[in-house]
Amino acid sequence: MAAAMTVAVVLAAVVAAAAAAAAAQAEVIGINNQFPGPLLNVTTNQNVRVNVQNNLDEPLLITWDGIQMRMNSWQDGVMGTNCPIPPGWNWTYEFQLKDQIGSFFYFPSLGLQRAAGGFGPITVNNRATVPLPFDQPHGDITLFIGDWYTKTHVELRNMLDDNQELGVPDAILINGRAPYIYDSALVPDGLQYETVGVEPGKTYRFRVHNVGISTSLNFRIQNHNMRLVETEGTYTNQQNYTNLDIHVGQSYSFLVTMDQNASTDYYIVASPRFVSNPRGHEVAGVAILQYSNSKGRASGSLPDAPNDNYDKYYSMNQARSIRMNTSAGAARPNPQGSFHYGSINITQTFVLKNEQPLSINGKRWRTINRVSYSPPETPLRLADLHNLTGVYTTDFPAMPSNAPARIASSALNASYKGFLEIVFQNNDTDVQTYHLDGYSFFVVGMNYGEWTPDRRNEYNKWDAISRCTTQVFPGGWTAVLVSLDNVGIWNLRAEKLDNWYRGQEVYVKVADPLGYNITEMVIPDNALYCGLLKERQKPQVHESNSKSSVQGDAGWSNKLLTTMILVVAAVIFS
Ligand SMILES: *[C@@H]1O[C@H](CO)[C@@H](O)[C@H](O)[C@H]1NC(C)=O
Ligand SMILES: *[C@@H]1O[C@H](CO)[C@@H](O)[C@H](O)[C@H]1NC(C)=O
Ligand SMILES: *[C@@H]1O[C@H](CO)[C@@H](O)[C@H](O)[C@H]1NC(C)=O
Ligand SMILES: *[C@@H]1O[C@H](CO)[C@@H](O)[C@H](O)[C@H]1NC(C)=O
Ligand SMILES: *[C@@H]1O[C@H](CO)[C@@H](O)[C@H](O)[C@H]1NC(C)=O
Ligand SMILES: *[C@@H]1O[C@H](CO)[C@@H](O)[C@H](O)[C@H]1NC(C)=O
Ligand SMILES: *[C@@H]1O[C@H](CO)[C@@H](O)[C@H](O)[C@H]1NC(C)=O
Ligand SMILES: *[C@@H]1O[C@H](CO)[C@@H](O)[C@H](O)[C@H]1NC(C)=O
Ligand SMILES: *[C@@H]1O[C@H](CO)[C@@H](O)[C@H](O)[C@H]1NC(C)=O
Ligand SMILES: *[C@@H]1O[C@H](CO)[C@@H](O)[C@H](O)[C@H]1NC(C)=O
Repeated sequence: MAAAMTVAVVLAAVVAAAAAAAAAQAEVIGINNQFPGPLLNVTTNQNVRVNVQNNLDEPLLITWDGIQMRMNSWQDGVMGTNCPIPPGWNWTYEFQLKDQIGSFFYFPSLGLQRAAGGFGPITVNNRATVPLPFDQPHGDITLFIGDWYTKTHVELRNMLDDNQELGVPDAILINGRAPYIYDSALVPDGLQYETVGVEPGKTYRFRVHNVGISTSLNFRIQNHNMRLVETEGTYTNQQNYTNLDIHVGQSYSFLVTMDQNASTDYYIVASPRFVSNPRGHEVAGVAILQYSNSKGRASGSLPDAPNDNYDKYYSMNQARSIRMNTSAGAARPNPQGSFHYGSINITQTFVLKNEQPLSINGKRWRTINRVSYSPPETPLRLADLHNLTGVYTTDFPAMPSNAPARIASSALNASYKGFLEIVFQNNDTDVQTYHLDGYSFFVVGMNYGEWTPDRRNEYNKWDAISRCTTQVFPGGWTAVLVSLDNVGIWNLRAEKLDNWYRGQEVYVKVADPLGYNITEMVIPDNALYCGLLKERQKPQVHESNSKSSVQGDAGWSNKLLTTMILVVAAVIFS
């Protein structure tokens, strides 16, 4: 059986919303002429083939956030495993959605490009033989929330290269659109906002992703209860929330029943959290929930954000309340809780500490354990395959120290089939989020203060949520446990784009002594070569670049600057 879908990628130029200031213009990266990009809708264990045509004027890699690429880091789409797709070239990804369900997203992984868009949703559905742990919702509604700057990603990059901080974002967007005018003093007229149309009485699954640059957001829907059901591939113990903090890179599914009267539309809100600059709180992302029988526009003030100025545990307790439903089946029919992670002995521990930006040779860098990662031109995995030495080292410190900060291309060794504990220690003054490729980890503990081994006594050893992106509160720690069952070299990164760009990442090398072509899949025939191996790369013959046939419209724009098409043809087969 084969299903075909054609995906196209555009660089659309649109009018971006500077919600607090006047409207300004900015370019966005679109996919298939859309911003956000089209849905990749698949079912557990299906194979996927996506042809990515790069019509940007810079190198591109698309990464599939949360997709585990089992034994197949060749498809992960990050610098450590893949050579970038040069401008004008195309490249075909092929991978399997093995043993996964859930709500994820894809995005461009290089050089701050996500700040310009290029992201889209991935939905991995249950197989027919594994029932959902709730009634089939009437429909799916995907919402991308995130902070936004009117500067282009190139300008933002230049600022960081120039030792400047990015400052307060210009807007919070929902599905690439400006806020509804909830307050005419804050939101200028004439910008398009997102409207979500619904039927009264029906229940919908909202899949919400924070794809922003660096701002944690509080998500809520006026007068509506949000029943949390899934987090990054794990069905949760279903609980009701009136609002939830969603940190950069995190994904959640909520069931929302349209059980209110339709006397007006309702606000959908994503407002900044944990922002030290008071200006950072001025603007919220606001979309409209509109019943089909709605009798009028939404008006009045937004539903309240959590009032927790003096309660630093509010958000942490909310995070701790998100638990796995141990009796629900997911990718497999057997219950999620049948893997008793809490009774497995830890074989290896990394304590990874981040700090405020550190100066190295006069420039500001972000570090983990005083190392700022510098991606070598030759991907780590390719270097290994070709027995190249000197590309990177494996001496990345597994524990914090007071060593002088340095820039290095260094990875962490981890033992295949081991059981790894990673403790993230946040010595900075804002919330940090970390993401690990290739895996889902159990978030067993978080607290304030300095982590010490006796904190293991507070770990949740029974129903901790298993996910791929976790927050770490300022001055606090988060501990995760990972079963090292996936061979490859996997990116562990700060999801905040500015921190990531400044070197806050590392690769975790999970090597199997049996190795290549036994447990690990072989390198694909179409692999690109670069760096020390660039002589191996054959030239690519190109079809003509259809540059102007389609107009990109990212939603609220009526003024297009330029339009370039990134043609991406995707085929899904199983
Ligand atoms: C996604 O695929 C599932 C299973 O094939 C289907 O039921 C659903 O309607 C699809 N959703 C969308 C939005 O296309
Ligand atoms: C959540 O809210 C719904 C009504 O919207 C209610 O039926 C259900 O019992 C609540 N669940 C919990 C765990 O409180
Ligand atoms: C509809 O509900 C709102 C509050 O949810 C209430 O203020 C309003 O009076 C209700 N309108 C009608 C017509 O019932
Ligand atoms: C857990 O999943 C089961 C389905 O296996 C479902 O019946 C139950 O309601 C879920 N419990 C909670 C608390 O979400
Ligand atoms: C875990 O370690 C304890 C001692 O620390 C040992 O008694 C136990 O057998 C180990 N369990 C497993 C499954 O290896
Ligand atoms: C790398 O080394 C291995 C083992 O020594 C060898 O089998 C393999 O052919 C070498 N690969 C290349 C590309 O030279
Ligand atoms: C990491 O593993 C490699 C083999 O894969 C080994 O050669 C190297 O010495 C290890 N590095 C450390 C620091 O243990
Ligand atoms: C950072 O670490 C230093 C030294 O351990 C400590 O004094 C300070 O309180 C920490 N700050 C935060 C925000 O964790
Ligand atoms: C992988 O292993 C299979 C079976 O042993 C062999 O036929 C194939 O040539 C190998 N491929 C590569 C690229 O080494
Ligand atoms: C991708 O490149 C190949 C050549 O490597 C070419 O045959 C193919 O037509 C290209 N596909 C697209 C969509 O441009």
